[in-house]
Amino acid sequence: MSPQSSAAFVADFRQAAPYIHYLSGKTIVLAVSSHVLLADKLASLAKDIQLLASLGVRLVLVHGTRQYLNQMMRAAGETLSYHRGWRITDEATLQQVKQACGMVRFDIEAALSSSPAQMPDRNQRRLRVASGNFLLAKPLGVMDGIDMGYTGRIRKVDAEAIQQRLNEGCLVLVSPLGQSLSGKSFNLGLDDAAQALAVTLKAEKLVFLASEDGVRSTDGALLSQLTAAEAQALLDNNAHSADMSRMLKAAIYVLENGVRRAHILCGLNDGSLIAELFTRQGSGTALAQSSFMRIRAADNHDIGDIIDLIAPLESAGILLPRNREYLENHIHEFSVLEHDCHVYGCVALKVFEQQHIGELACLVVSPDAQDGGYGELLLDYVLKQAKARGVSTLFALSTNTGDWFDERGFETAELSELPPERQEQYLQNKRRSKIYRRSLV
Ligand code: ACO
Repeated sequence: MSPQSSAAFVADFRQAAPYIHYLSGKTIVLAVSSHVLLADKLASLAKDIQLLASLGVRLVLVHGTRQYLNQMMRAAGETLSYHRGWRITDEATLQQVKQACGMVRFDIEAALSSSPAQMPDRNQRRLRVASGNFLLAKPLGVMDGIDMGYTGRIRKVDAEAIQQRLNEGCLVLVSPLGQSLSGKSFNLGLDDAAQALAVTLKAEKLVFLASEDGVRSTDGALLSQLTAAEAQALLDNNAHSADMSRMLKAAIYVLENGVRRAHILCGLNDGSLIAELFTRQGSGTALAQSSFMRIRAADNHDIGDIIDLIAPLESAGILLPRNREYLENHIHEFSVLEHDCHVYGCVALKVFEQQHIGELACLVVSPDAQDGGYGELLLDYVLKQAKARGVSTLFALSTNTGDWFDERGFETAELSELPPERQEQYLQNKRRSKIYRRSLV
């Protein structure tokens, strides 16, 4: 490996590490479109799914059947009938749905049974797949005078049975077919099944592996992140395909019902699932109930992250050393910037109440997240915080970052402008930092 590619690998691996840690032990529902399954992508997708399982992610996979059904119907010279977007399932269609589910299930089970050659003890590491009667269904009934036949809706998800299989280390494979208490089978929509599974299992994420790259804005740009409200506004615009609208509706529903994230991405692109889950930029669209990024007051749980951020800069002499004890005693002065539950930056505000003076300190953005505006956001946050606390002048002392403050409305200041106790400290530590001031009045 060349030094450049080795450095890139290390950077990527470091970026992935917090996501690996965060997803271990969490449940993810993967809703795989039949477009992906029919496009010969199953083998590479299965490898990524096996990787997720080996990292301790609890996986429930629900698959679609539509493309298989279309193929079968075409071969038989028949067509599927729909009413208001719902498939009408008569007796003959139900038989074909069952056949399609059987074919898909066996294909998925076979793909997931393959064991990467480089793995030691291949048999023991084989991912076990559990299927069963996990979905209880009820008939959709008669809609606008049209008998929807064996098209059904979810009545209940047998969460206990699924959790048992997940606890045993299995991947749970669910087909979009449900059984009724009267012993009949009903044809279910992929998104209906996926959203019911995600909500009932209190999944961390619902991931749609679709044939589209993700959600696009009205002018066609791929949106990497969306809040539920933004997704609703896009839905109201009615600018998407029927499939995308269904996925968006399901995503909004699960977010409103306790699932932390929904993702819509292209399952046809090799590695898209891994890129979406383990990189900050992702590969498709990630949806959350509210904004992904927030700045909040730090607490003792953040000390480890703050140390990780500041330690290299302390060694380089850019920041004043602050040990754990100091951080424990001053944590109330710190704020952290987190994105998708990972801390990417910190800043501290020390207030000298009597003089109405504030000092911004310890402003750091993680090297892998710099130049994206986080520094500016942390500065804005501290400016607001300082104003709210009656600060009229905000100081920043820096050995290396003077220009950055200079470009953001700070001016050079004299030592004598600092509160006396801060002047004393300044003279003691002999760092000879440059002093910058910004008026807040
Ligand atoms: N001097 C001048 N400009 C800089 C510096 C610097 N030391 N570092 C970054 N910039 C510029 C970038 O080149 C970029 O410029 P561009 O917009 O023209 O391309 C711009 O700042 C990026 O701005 P943001 O995206 O808002 O800033 P970012 O999220 O990268 O965070 C920060 C800026 C906090 C300075 C970050 O680079 C960092 O953590 N640096 C190391 C730690 C540090 O020096 N902290 C300040 C200590 S002093 C104190 O806390 C009082």
